[in-house]
Parts: sequence; structure tokens; C-alpha cells
Amino acid sequence: MRSVYSPAAEMPAGVSMRAPVPAALRSAARSGLHLRNASFHTHRPSVVAPAAAKDLEPTSASSNGAPKNNGVQFTKLSTTAVHGGERGGRPRVADALTTPIVQTSTYHFRNTAELIEYNEGRFDSYEYGRYGNPTAQACENKIKALEGAEDCLVSASGMNAVTSMLLSLVPAGGHIVTTSDCYWRTRQFMQNFLPKMNIGVSVIKPNDLEALQEALDKHSVTLFFSESPTNPYLRCVDILAISRLCHAKGAFVCVDSTFATPINTRALELGADLVLHSATKYLAGHNDVLAGALCGKKELVEKVREFHHIMGGVVDPHAAYLLLRGLKTLELRVTRHNASAMEIARRLESHPKVVRVWYPGLESHPDHAIAKRQMSGFGGVVSFETRGGLNECISFIDNVKLPYIAPSLGGVESLIEMPAVQSYWGFGPERRAQIGIKENLIRFSIGVEDVEDIWADLVQALEYVP
Ligand SMILES: Cc1ncc(COP(=O)(O)O)c(C=O)c1O
Repeated sequence: MRSVYSPAAEMPAGVSMRAPVPAALRSAARSGLHLRNASFHTHRPSVVAPAAAKDLEPTSASSNGAPKNNGVQFTKLSTTAVHGGERGGRPRVADALTTPIVQTSTYHFRNTAELIEYNEGRFDSYEYGRYGNPTAQACENKIKALEGAEDCLVSASGMNAVTSMLLSLVPAGGHIVTTSDCYWRTRQFMQNFLPKMNIGVSVIKPNDLEALQEALDKHSVTLFFSESPTNPYLRCVDILAISRLCHAKGAFVCVDSTFATPINTRALELGADLVLHSATKYLAGHNDVLAGALCGKKELVEKVREFHHIMGGVVDPHAAYLLLRGLKTLELRVTRHNASAMEIARRLESHPKVVRVWYPGLESHPDHAIAKRQMSGFGGVVSFETRGGLNECISFIDNVKLPYIAPSLGGVESLIEMPAVQSYWGFGPERRAQIGIKENLIRFSIGVEDVEDIWADLVQALEYVP
């Protein structure tokens, strides 16, 4: 539970902040005989310090790497979603069942000896809110368990996870490869800000493996980054094939798995080095909190964490609690989203007022074969085009009653939007056409309402399309 922040890492070579601990202080700290507040330390249950064994949930390591906590074997993701990150070594606070919201900006030490013990990694605690928080750490441990990752960093938003990852892992003068369909703010950052650091960006079509190989041969590529499924056309990249090509050239792979979640795609098992989430969406799942998560190889996540400690895009403890609570029903919700979206996509495909449906679970989707191979469900977002153009599409969306007209996705409430009007309005029609955002496109995030209620509402609203 120790913060990875290491002040010594900032010191010039040869200079150590880790001054030798005076022998008297060291033995006093170990024996619990603290120079100040000795009784305070020994009698008051600590929120985070493993002062007494009874204050901790038992931890047990498993030989096969599967999480095994408190005698409970987590073999299924639904169990991991409920218990992961909260049963092994978690401090007990007032015998509360749930992980508490530790609403603090800083942490105190009983005396200098304890601080030095902490500095030297022999006393587990936290130092300052920008370097760690127990509620946020429980989220990290749960998401880490769900993704089967070595490490996880939770931050204030998905965009914070994206920008921190790019800025800390891609060196100035480096090169990245990304795909043409992408959340527009991520694209904006790559195209408008990364060039300031002389970082080049090659944009390829999702699954154009020849174009990927060409970019890998031509540039010294540090990173391949893509969403899968993408926003808004739900294109899926072949994570296994892409990882093989990239790793052969020493590039690492980061997949934004926001639309898939660890329930539908095992990005790290398929070969990705990192998996990223706008936890605002399915992971939190209730349209009430912003957060981001980055999981994967420890050495990579650690680098991002160090940068994150400087940049300060930390998740608020209350937001972390909401994320933790939302995560518990992730498998339950995603199963429902998958089933409803598949049903709605099929019905929309045969509706006369709909000209095209984009859903990776449909045979008509360009990446259906890949999606079938690497996804266990196809997610809760269905994109589709109504007959006509912008105005006809507006006639439809203005008449839906159940979904909210709103950006975002992945929550229990259905949300519906026209990308042309919502995120891309400022681009104007020509630029939208250039980047492939159709005027009659709808992005529909299907909530957990009854599928027949959702369908009935869509059908009545489609009547308004001339
Ligand atoms: C695929 C994807 N990645 C990242 C983000 C950014 O996440 P946040 O809004 O939590 O910053 C979004 C937001 O819509 C997204 O759709």
C-alpha cells in the first residue's frame, strides 16, 4: 500500500535523500516505542497501517496467480467484480463491510522514526493525497484484478489517463500509430499537442495491418494506440495480430477498452501491454462520476504513475468510492447491455427507416469476424444511420422519450446522441464529411431498462423520420 513516490529519484546522481536512520530511532520505531504519541500509535486502530493483524482482512497468495483472498477463490469475473481488491489485506475500519471514503488530503506520522520507516519502505502508509489514497487504491486493486493486470493507476478522467500515458511513455521525437476512428479529444491531443514535442502520428484504418507494418518499418514507433471498439463506428482492431507486429519492432500496444470493458475483451491476454478506460463509462456505470484507469505491465504503469504524481490529475476519494461501488455490478450490467444491444441492433437492421447499423455483433459489421474471435459480448453501444440527412435524423432524436439526449455512454440510463450535433458540431459539415462523421448518424448507449420498453420508444420515434 506504500506510495511509489520516491523523492530520491529526483535527486542528482550520488545524492541520497535517504539519510541513514539513527540507530536509536530505528529500534524505537520497530519496537513500537515511539518517541512521541506512543500510546496513540499502539491503541488507536490505524486506517492504513497494518498495526495489528486483527485489523486486517487475511491475505493469501495463490500458487497459480489466480486471486485467492480470504479463502474465496475468484475464478469468475462476476465474483472478482464484487470482491476483487477488497478482501486481501484490506484494513478494517469500524468493522464496516464497505471500503470507506478516506476523505483526506494528507496523512500523518506519529514521529520522525515512523516517517523514516515509511521513507525506507518498512512502514506501509500514505504520505499525501496526490501520491495515493486508500479508497482510490481499492479501485485500482479491483480493476487490476478484473483486467488480470500487474498494475493499475486510477485517475481523474479518461482523458487524464490518455494524456498522462502518452506524455510519460512516448519520448520527445518519438512516433505513434493510431487508428482513424477515435474519441475526438484523444485525436485532438495527438494531432495538436504531441507535435509540439516533435512526436509524429501515423493514422491507419483499423485493421490495415499492411499500413501498420509500413509505419513500423518507416518510423521508430514507440506506441500503437487504438480504441476497440472505436467511438462511434465500433470498429474492432485485431489485438493479437497488432501486438505481434508491434512487439517484433519493439513498439508497445495500448488499447482503449472503454467500450468493451474487461468483461467483453481480455486485451492484456490478447497481447496488449496496456489497457485504458474512461472509467466514467461502463466501469462506474451510473452516469454520475468521472474517472480514468490505466492497467498493464508494472514497469509501464509505474512510469505513468510517477508522471501522474507530478501532474496531479488524481481521482477524488468520493468519486473513487462511486467507481468502486459501480464496479461491483459490472459483470451484471455488461451482460444486460450486451443482450439488449444485440437485440436492438438486429431489429434496427430490418427497420425501413434505418439505412445502416454499426454493431460488431452483426454479420454486416466490417469487423464482425475479429469481434467474434476476441469479444465474449459486443457491448452496449449501437450506432445507426436513419433515412435522410441531418434534419430527418433530428426529427427522430427529438421524439425519443426514454433515452436522454446526452453525450457519454455506459451507464444504467440509455443515452442517445447525434455525433454531428453533439461532439462534432463545431467542425462544420465539410470537415465532418472529411473525417467520416455522417450527418444522419446516431450513437445509442443502451441502458439496463427493459429491452421492450427501449424498442417501443425507438419504433414510435422512427415514425417521425419522413
Ligand atoms: C473511448 C473513449 N476514451 C476516452 C474518453 C475520455 O474519457 P473521460 O470523458 O472520462 O475523460 C472517452 C469519452 O467519451 C471515450 O469515449
